[in-house]
Amino acid sequence: MNQSPRTPVIAGNWKMNLNPGEAAALIRETKPLVADAGCGVVFCVPFVDLHAALEAARGSNIKIGAQNCHWEEKGAFTGEISARMLRDIGAEYVITGHSERRALFGDTNETVARRSRAALDAGLTVILCVGEYLEQRQQDITLEVVRTQTKIALAGISAAELARVIIAYEPVWAIGTGLTATAEQANEVSRGIRGLLGELYGQASADGAVIQYGGSMNAANAASLLAQPEVDGGLIGGASLKAADFAAIVAAADASGTASRA
Ligand code: PGA
Repeated sequence: MNQSPRTPVIAGNWKMNLNPGEAAALIRETKPLVADAGCGVVFCVPFVDLHAALEAARGSNIKIGAQNCHWEEKGAFTGEISARMLRDIGAEYVITGHSERRALFGDTNETVARRSRAALDAGLTVILCVGEYLEQRQQDITLEVVRTQTKIALAGISAAELARVIIAYEPVWAIGTGLTATAEQANEVSRGIRGLLGELYGQASADGAVIQYGGSMNAANAASLLAQPEVDGGLIGGASLKAADFAAIVAAADASGTASRA
């Protein structure tokens, strides 16, 4: 049972899926299913879907975010979108450091730090992704890897700003593969990240930080992952593209929260 005092956040990461019409339809379908959620509910959508998603979510408890941002406010950066642009259109969240951006688009711990810094400066909440490759888990260096990723990304971020940072622990080998970390593995790494936050920011800030799990979380495995005391929600890829599956994960998060309040 999850005894956490933190409010979980369930965030969908649509990746490069859905056009604006499809985005609006999925949000309209999801809205009534999550209307009574006690946890936070977020969809991080492709840039071109932001407007339609924000319109469709208006008046509901669904928050909208993007999947990346550039660190400069404006200028000659062809093809890029700034954090300020996201804030100005109405987005409230942005993912930084997703493993696909690190692996496929050259993001480093340093650029992730710059993107996160810019997002906070623009008033956004950051969903900062960290996670190890399979070889790193096999070499038993998972904690060192996620500690390094987290520490560099958070350099220059104050304790007050940490309240607008969600950390998503996403083992790379579990993303989109159907493989999931065991609940114990997810809990252990989250505890390690929280320990680092305690070293950097003190116990109270660490205890208040939301740490999600991501990597093939679905309607069937969400309850056991979310019941872990150190796991405060999820970053959901594939299963966020189906309203019923996503709503089932939101319900699982609420059930773990209700259990802890009972
Ligand atoms: P997945 O993606 O749920 O499809 O594994 C998670 C993510 O990449 O955030």
